[in-house]
Amino acid sequence: MDYTLFIVDDEKTIREGITAYVEDDYTVFTYAAAEDALGDFSKKKPDLILLDIGLPGMDGITALNRFKAQDADVVVIMITAYEDVGSVIKSMKQGAWDYIVKPLQMEGLEVTISNALETIRLRREIKDLQEGRIRKEVPCFIGESQVIHDIMAYIEKVAKSPDTPVLIQGETGTGKELLASTIHYRSPNFAGPFITVNCAAIPKDLIESELFGYEKGAFSGASAKGKTGLIEMADKGTLFLDEVGDLNPDAQAKLLRFMENGEFYRVGSTEKQYVSTRIVSATNRNLEEMIENEEFRDDLYFRISVIRLQVPSLNQREEDVQIFAGHFLKFFNTKFCRNLTGIREDAMAFLNRYKWKGNVRELKNMMERGVLTADGPELTLGDLGVDRAGTAKGDENKSSIDLPPLSPDGVDLTAMKADIDRFYFRQAMELAGGNESQAARLLNMKHHAFRYQYKKIMDDHSGKDE
Ligand SMILES: Nc1ncnc2c1ncn2[C@@H]1O[C@H](COP(=O)(O)OP(=O)(O)OP(=O)(O)O)[C@@H](O)[C@H]1O
Ligand SMILES: [Mg+2]
Repeated sequence: MDYTLFIVDDEKTIREGITAYVEDDYTVFTYAAAEDALGDFSKKKPDLILLDIGLPGMDGITALNRFKAQDADVVVIMITAYEDVGSVIKSMKQGAWDYIVKPLQMEGLEVTISNALETIRLRREIKDLQEGRIRKEVPCFIGESQVIHDIMAYIEKVAKSPDTPVLIQGETGTGKELLASTIHYRSPNFAGPFITVNCAAIPKDLIESELFGYEKGAFSGASAKGKTGLIEMADKGTLFLDEVGDLNPDAQAKLLRFMENGEFYRVGSTEKQYVSTRIVSATNRNLEEMIENEEFRDDLYFRISVIRLQVPSLNQREEDVQIFAGHFLKFFNTKFCRNLTGIREDAMAFLNRYKWKGNVRELKNMMERGVLTADGPELTLGDLGVDRAGTAKGDENKSSIDLPPLSPDGVDLTAMKADIDRFYFRQAMELAGGNESQAARLLNMKHHAFRYQYKKIMDDHSGKDE
């Protein structure tokens, strides 16, 4: 591994002595003053700093604190004169890793440095392992359609900032929450908390205390210990405001104030609190329309939607249906210890043409039911809870019109169809002002087919009237 070392000492012989000893193995920068080293810190990102305690200008202990404030993980070894035991103790208490004593003994110095670097290496290894573990456990946001590729590429960029607000809009079940967690786990704050607030589920008069917390005895019924709010719990992580369109006006105003400067008050407290978190909001309501109706503040809208993502419905990205079906087949095979080998053609054809009102969630649920109950070896239409005609059982939304359920007396289907035809053909002609080709377009029919059928309907009907 390649390490960068800073040597900060006003004595030139010390700087040169150490440099000569370590420059073959590490990248070394030397400074006579702490101020200069601090100025270079964020650019050069040293792993290890050898820091003289008795510097002219800013002293070593002050500098130690400044370095640590910029990066708590930086390893600092103090350089000191024998007689300065008090300063050594002080610096060790303030987070120095070790110290070396002047006049320097190079062998001792080498051991101290290599020990420090070994610690740095181990810390990084642990962090990498943790990162890998966390990332492995997070479900993936999948999809092969161009829009999903574009969204994922955009998210890679957006996630890099730890606190830029993101608004995700899309129909129910399109994966807004999964996308929010994807942003979190790809951000620098991935090891921090991901806190979800369902703004629609919290009673309106409790939302403020839930978000901001409260002091003990803030209101009647408040817990005696007070309460930490969700915003505070999300410090150094992500706060996911689900159904953000359901926030009441009062909570909207307070959220806006918090988002503008990262500060807020607990209910019943005058003490300012500071929190640094990323706010990801989601909604399936039309916020733009809500703004026009004065139900949502436009200033809050602009604040939460610095980055805006629109997740398309599943029917707008049909190529993903097959990907999802395959993915969930594998997923539930593993979950239920099944080994279905695939999806039969008729079942796949059904999945492809179905109108997914519940989007990915509905598809996932259907696959769960299918994999769990299938007799195998392949998933069939019947396993999906679908009859031969390709209608999902128990789903009254299947028809695009509200049809009455079939009664035990049965129904005259032919008469019913004729009724529907007559109803729409007449209306189409009325709307089109008697223009047949326009009326045909309204019913998505070819002109000649329309004319033929319209004539038949009118003939039949006038025949009946006679
Ligand atoms: N791209 C995707 N990849 C994998 N799983 C997905 C994807 N999109 C959605 N899902 C799954 O579908 C289900 C619904 O997703 P999610 O809860 O994120 O939807 P939502 O948009 O938040 O819905 P709602 O508006 O109803 O809250 C979840 O089980 C989720 O894991
Ligand atoms: Mg959701």
